[in-house]
Amino acid sequence: MDGFPAAPPRPARQGGAWLFLRRWARDPLQMGSIIPSSPALGRRVARASDWSGDGCVVELGAGTGAISRALLGAGLPPERLCLVEIVPEMAEHLRAALPGVEVVTGDAFALPDILPRRLRGRVRTVICGIPLVLLPLERQRAFAAAAEGAAPGRGFLLYTYCATSPLRHRALGLAARREAFTLLNFPPASVWRYSPGG
Ligand SMILES: C[S@@+](CC[C@H](N)C(=O)[O-])C[C@H]1O[C@@H](n2cnc3c(N)ncnc32)[C@H](O)[C@@H]1O
Repeated sequence: MDGFPAAPPRPARQGGAWLFLRRWARDPLQMGSIIPSSPALGRRVARASDWSGDGCVVELGAGTGAISRALLGAGLPPERLCLVEIVPEMAEHLRAALPGVEVVTGDAFALPDILPRRLRGRVRTVICGIPLVLLPLERQRAFAAAAEGAAPGRGFLLYTYCATSPLRHRALGLAARREAFTLLNFPPASVWRYSPGG
């Protein structure tokens, strides 16, 4: 005992709206949105997700955790959620705000390599929050290959502000289905499912 009391745990930071806005100002293309997703959109993404059995969910581009909170709120155990976020400051925010959830600081395009070993072979749903619509077809193809490498045959979910499919799915060899829509997001958003073999 050195006479100093242990440091209290850091309080979980909940919103992160300011962090989000600051990152958007620095790199709008990487962020793709000026504010975090709404709880209503999060609930729709959670409803389209599967973690049956001992399955887990991987969320790419988790930002400040808006969708992650909805997944946890829908009953996904924290240890079965893995977040990937490329901005170190946001990844740090996620670790503080969402105890028990594994947060990988890294690039979603390298998913098969950066996915924690304990989760390999158990990924039931890949959720994409990164702004794919702005990327050229070859980068979108690379993304689809990364998702396939981590969760073979399962495809991925993508939420978007586009009224039509944000991906040229046929050119990517994917089938596309719009599974949900909500006006309760800024801007209004849809949840798309992309599956291999379109
Ligand atoms: C539209 S925001 C979504 C944030 C959050 N999921 C939400 O719905 O509020 C996109 C997020 O993707 C992250 N991102 C962009 N490119 C990425 C990449 N290649 N790998 C991992 N994260 C990425 C950005 O830093 C940002 O946090």
